[in-house]
Amino acid sequence: MASDLLAVKHLKKYFPVQKNMFFGKKAFIHAVDGISFAIGPRQTIGLVGESGCGKTTLGRTLVNLEKPTAGEIYFKGKNTADFKYSEWYEYRKSVQFIFQDPYSSLNPRKTVLDIVTTSLRSSNLLYSKKKLAGRTEELLKLVGLSTQYCHHYPHEFSGGQRQRISIARALALSPELLICDEPVSALDVSIQAQVLNLLNGLKNKFNLSLIFISHDLAVVKHVSDMIFVMYRGKIVEKAPGASLFAHTGHPYSKALISAIPEPKVGKSKERIILKGDVSTPVGEMKGCCFQDRCYMAQKICKKQEPPAKQVAKEHTAFCHFA
Ligand SMILES: Nc1ncnc2c1ncn2[C@@H]1O[C@H](COP(=O)(O)OP(=O)(O)OP(=O)(O)O)[C@@H](O)[C@H]1O
Ligand SMILES: [Mg+2]
Repeated sequence: MASDLLAVKHLKKYFPVQKNMFFGKKAFIHAVDGISFAIGPRQTIGLVGESGCGKTTLGRTLVNLEKPTAGEIYFKGKNTADFKYSEWYEYRKSVQFIFQDPYSSLNPRKTVLDIVTTSLRSSNLLYSKKKLAGRTEELLKLVGLSTQYCHHYPHEFSGGQRQRISIARALALSPELLICDEPVSALDVSIQAQVLNLLNGLKNKFNLSLIFISHDLAVVKHVSDMIFVMYRGKIVEKAPGASLFAHTGHPYSKALISAIPEPKVGKSKERIILKGDVSTPVGEMKGCCFQDRCYMAQKICKKQEPPAKQVAKEHTAFCHFA
């Protein structure tokens, strides 16, 4: 739709696997395998799934750090494949990425001022040293850091402070969409809450849209309008947060929800423990992508790809038995 900020259709990203010496056929890891969704202005989408299900690859493909194998990305109704240079420039300004690891995503040789103003300097918008310093101070204040840190290096900061610096860097060009890749997973619980509140505050202040990637459903629940549950490169369930918890349709989502600790003392719930972990998605898989670990799997799951089933309003699950 034209009102969508970003829309993705049948997006795929495959990585080639080293060719086997004896069996020469080239195989591919299906990291992102046919994902479609749209995000509107001021909307937050939470993307959850276990390690290796393709969350980071999806985020990196959206900001053009990975070239899609197939599918389309539309920005404000226009296909990015048809973008001219100036439109790419606009896109890079408007869609920013916060990386998963606050320790490796900041250049250890650069000061906070250099890190935060990298995009400003390359954009030629502000070039006087005084203006760059002024903007850095403004951004540091926004993310709750003291302006005295401008000339400090990343090793002098804690994980939470580093993540705030990453957020300041992402905000430098006044983006419209922030893709946050597990922004709090490396932080302790109290700092997690601070960074989540900061992101939420910034979202409201600047009318930002957010794609919030996490492996933790409990974290995503509090910040998202819609939650997408991902497994082996596919979205297996999409729903508004409350509906996902009230009318869970997919057995994988049920297992994720059952793993959330119950805060009330004396109250316990049945835990669904899945066998094994997410296998590397090499090659095409016939039938349902979750069949190997599903506790409800039947013969049909090995033969037919599950259809989209409407579970509730705006709530779809891709399971034969949803
Ligand atoms: N550059 C690459 N080359 C080859 N395979 C890759 C590459 N990047 C990712 N993969 C593979 O793609 C799959 C998805 O990886 P990805 O990093 O997107 O997962 P993730 O959901 O972000 O996991 P985590 O929660 O651990 O960050 C994995 O099987 C991974 O091994
Ligand atoms: Mg990741």
